Amino acid sequence: MEQGHALEVLLTEEEIADKVSFLGEQISRDYAGSGELVLVAVLRGSVYFAVDLSRCLAIPFVLDFIGISSYAAKTDPLGIVRITKDLDTNIASKNVLLVEDIVDTGLTLNYLLKNLRTRKPLSLRVCALLDMPARRIVNVPVDYRGFEMPDVYVVGYGLDYQERYRNLKEIAVLK
Ligand code: PRP
Repeated sequence: MEQGHALEVLLTEEEIADKVSFLGEQISRDYAGSGELVLVAVLRGSVYFAVDLSRCLAIPFVLDFIGISSYAAKTDPLGIVRITKDLDTNIASKNVLLVEDIVDTGLTLNYLLKNLRTRKPLSLRVCALLDMPARRIVNVPVDYRGFEMPDVYVVGYGLDYQERYRNLKEIAVLK
């Protein structure tokens, strides 16, 4: 563990790995035989989760990335988000699974879902490792959920505090 802040581990490396593998099996079963899947990781935090999840998939998939300025969502009451890096893949008529590390207010996901729907994917679902329903501002569907979390500031496994702690193997509460 890094020094600097007091960290209390909420989810261990093993608990995370077990959950990622469980989600991977569930997704593989659900999409089996339904053609190519496009896994869309939302930069930057979900990269760690998306890569590990992709290793647990037993179906063909394309991994792609979308970058958004989430700062905008958190300061704009309408939740306007700007795309900073668009997908390289044309998702029209494809099965798309949006991969998020955390759904908090739901503003980012709400924007992304609306945006991606305009591209006419065959299906569009969401897989989030962490879900913080107590902080929700807009209702968003979470089709595959890892852990439901209390309203605390968590870091690790992709989640940062001022860009620190993303590389922690555990998920911890920052005190
Ligand atoms: C996090 C997370 C989601 C978003 C969720 O990203 O990865 O994209 O916040 O929050 P919301 O539900 O309140 O919209 P963050 O802003 O921390 O950017 P990062 O992934 O680059 O760290």
